[in-house]
This record gives sequence, C-alpha cells and structure tokens, in this order.
Amino acid sequence: MTGNYLLFPSERNREGNQGAMPHTSKGNCMSTILVVYYSNTGSNKYVAERIAHDLECDIERIRPRLPAFPMILMSSFLKISAGIKPLQHNLADYEKVILCGPVAAGQFLAPLRDFVKKYRQRINKLYFATNCGSSDKHKDGKFGYGKIFTALEQELGDKLVFARAFPIALVIPQDKQDDADYVMKTRLSDENFKGEIAERLDGFVAKVKL
Ligand SMILES: Cc1cc2nc3c(=O)[nH]c(=O)nc-3n(C[C@H](O)[C@H](O)[C@H](O)COP(=O)(O)O)c2cc1C
Repeated sequence: MTGNYLLFPSERNREGNQGAMPHTSKGNCMSTILVVYYSNTGSNKYVAERIAHDLECDIERIRPRLPAFPMILMSSFLKISAGIKPLQHNLADYEKVILCGPVAAGQFLAPLRDFVKKYRQRINKLYFATNCGSSDKHKDGKFGYGKIFTALEQELGDKLVFARAFPIALVIPQDKQDDADYVMKTRLSDENFKGEIAERLDGFVAKVKL
C-alpha cells in the first residue's frame, strides 16, 4: 500500500484471462470496460463520467429501488435494503467494471453494497473510485474511506483489483479545509477538478488500462 493507494495482492496476479479480447461497441479489439455509479449530490457522477470519457467506455447509473437518501442512509446502517433496479448492461460481457460512489456516515452505502452482492458472480475485475468527504489523513478514522475499501475487499476478494479515493479536500482551499459546512457543500465540477485530483484520476485511468 502506498499513500492512500490501496493496492491489493490480486493486482499482481491479474495477468490471466489470456483469451481473445472482446470487441467494444466502438469496434476496436480491446478490453471492454463498464463504469457503474451511484451519486446523491453529483460529485461521484462527475468522477464516473470523467473516467468513462477518458476510457471511452460504457457507463450506467445504479438506481436504488428506494432512492430517497435518508432511506439509503438508514438501510446502509441496518444492512437491510430494498435493493437496486436491474442494470441495462450485462456485466458478464465486460472484462473490467469500475464502481464509483460516495462514503456516507462511515458506511459502505446500500446501493453500492447491493450492486456488489447482486452482481458479484458476473464481475470479472472490479475497480473502485470514490469521491468522499474524508481526507487521506483521516482515511482510517470512523468516517474514513479506508473501511469501505476493506469491506469491498472482503466482499470481492481477488476480483477487486484496486480502489482509489478522490477526497473533496483536494479541491478545497487550505484556509477552508476545517470549515465543515464549506466541505459538505463543495461539489466536483470542471471549475475545481484541477491539479492533484485530476492527476489522481489520470493515474487511476492508466491503472485500469494496464
Ligand atoms: C449525510 C452525509 C454523511 C456523510 N458522511 C461521510 C463519511 O462518513 N465519510 C466521508 O468520507 N464522507 C462523508 N460524506 C461526504 C460525501 O461522501 C461527499 O459529500 C461526496 O462528495 C458525496 O458524493 P455525491 O455527490 O456523489 O453524492 C457525507 C455526506 C453526507 C451528505
């Protein structure tokens, strides 16, 4: 593990799958990739769309059966959920799936957890990206993203290739870093997605392409 970069052992052992590469919808002979995301206030949608744009791949939104965010928070806590609507894309057709979604109340949010449970058998390799409120410094705290990475690894084992956080702190000015209200209200956009966070995304995309 380097910095906040969770690198799982499986990444070093993913050289199998030597069969013919499936064709993409764009007609090129290359690995097929699907981005799936859940987003409440838009920032993870933004990350998911950036990734899908850079990889020129398919993208689909996860649709919870009960979409109200307070319900999602509660079902995340209780680990009881109404589930998600079926995806339009067949995950088994994709060599790589990128899951993108937030952390809230220190929980592996129900739509993300439901997605993993429902489709685990059809996932070949999964990559996880999160835009979250917790910073790299606090990733191992009660509300940090670290435990979500661990939960994903427990659910997916070797299928999880790697996970990467894109904390909102990366787009917040130094003098506002401790302003909780400012932090919670900040959303990713073309205006602020610059510098380190953009470089992180480039690194993520490069890893997926490997
Ligand atoms: C009710 C609530 C609780 C949150 N709790 C956490 C948390 O425990 N850890 C964290 O890293 N971020 C937390 N966040 C911050 C979100 O992860 C962050 O706002 C993220 O950008 C939301 O993504 P979205 O715009 O895609 O929904 C919380 C946000 C809300 C609204």
